[in-house]
Amino acid sequence: MSGFSYRRGELFAEAVPVAEIAAAVGTPVYVYSANAVRARLRAFAAAFADLPALFCYALKANPNLAILRLLAAEGAGADTVSGGEIERALAAGMPPERIVFAGVAKTDEEMRLGLGRGIYQFNVESAEELERLAAVARAAGTTAPVAIRVNPDVAAETHDKISTGRRGDKFGIPLEEATAVYERAAGLPGVAAVGVHLHIGSQITGLGPFARAYRRGVELWRDLRARGIAVERIDFGGGFGIRYREETPVDPVALAALVRDLLGGAACRLIFEPGRALVGEAGILVSRVIYRKETRAGRFLVVDAGMQTLLRPALYDAWHDIFPVREPPPGTPLLVMDVVGPICESSDVLGRDRRLPPLSRGELIAIGAAGAYGAAMVSNYNSRPRPAEVLVDGDRWAVIKPRLEPAAQFADEVVPSWLPGPDAQDRPSGSHGDADD
Ligand code: LLP
Repeated sequence: MSGFSYRRGELFAEAVPVAEIAAAVGTPVYVYSANAVRARLRAFAAAFADLPALFCYALKANPNLAILRLLAAEGAGADTVSGGEIERALAAGMPPERIVFAGVAKTDEEMRLGLGRGIYQFNVESAEELERLAAVARAAGTTAPVAIRVNPDVAAETHDKISTGRRGDKFGIPLEEATAVYERAAGLPGVAAVGVHLHIGSQITGLGPFARAYRRGVELWRDLRARGIAVERIDFGGGFGIRYREETPVDPVALAALVRDLLGGAACRLIFEPGRALVGEAGILVSRVIYRKETRAGRFLVVDAGMQTLLRPALYDAWHDIFPVREPPPGTPLLVMDVVGPICESSDVLGRDRRLPPLSRGELIAIGAAGAYGAAMVSNYNSRPRPAEVLVDGDRWAVIKPRLEPAAQFADEVVPSWLPGPDAQDRPSGSHGDADD
């Protein structure tokens, strides 16, 4: 299920009218379907039921605690890329033994946090990081379970900016150098090499790139074991594409068949790090029409969501379907228009040349497949209210992140007391470099 459908002429999220949510919490607002998220995880889990697989949700896709709690309750783990994400996962009740920690720039502090909480695995990105992690673990009197992230040099056949597994990308260690790093790890107190990790990119829809990368990962895993290095798991990363437009998403059943085939019955624990595939199609962004503008140069629908709310179209030229919340009666003529946001940049376009029914000021539109890398990449740019987030579960719904008004966005900003202003003498001092006067 995707969780969103028209009923009696209006868009519903599960059993709740989307317009009701927008009226109650304002727009723009992200709306997620809990059952759509559950269904996606269950589809992966069912496909891999006969294999020892752990699904560590890449929480960068949508780190809201409610989403994490919902996935944790379904047995998922977490793929984290910062101390902050580890904290989020733990705060949501994710068990440490299901948390993996990746990222190219782990600091000592982040390593200590992961070690202290006993997380499942550190995905190490460089030889230098391995040495550092070993030292930090020794100082803490513990041993870090490590998977070395290898760069399999495989083109993900996706957008350039979200490809990560080509030679020259900043991620991982080239395959031909990986064995030496594993050998170093084997002799290094403070780390235990437990696995092989790879991740070649995001929004990959064909099985081909996965097949090529996974084969290289499995070959390395076998080779390491033959050398007496007891790696017991492979973390195949995430990257499973979804349907934004006409793509055919990765089928978990086909993915499982591929993995079964490559492993040929070998006893190996498996980790996957799906992010987008679990939440992307389970979310929409609801926005309100502010103005219509029709000139000889074109027709624009100006809405209150924009690149500050959903960055993907501006950043990756990404396509998101756009549809009206009130279903147009059959036979309504469609107009071609650009749907644009309120931000003072020409890149602030949510969709070009979209065919939509005539919409008036105040009407609602929904932007599809916005559950992943939508709210996660929201910014305060242009000081507009930050969108609320709502979770719908059957006929229940709740605000899982309230809208943040501009005044709250600048509440933590400090004007130094030496700057002239109406209230200069009343201001508390405290910023760095503040004179002691
Ligand atoms: N594992 C690692 C090591 C990753 O770097 C990523 C994503 C994932 C898992 C999850 O990938 P997914 O299953 O969601 O494709 N902001 C971009 C996507 C950036 C993805 C970064 N890494 C977008 O909006 O398309």
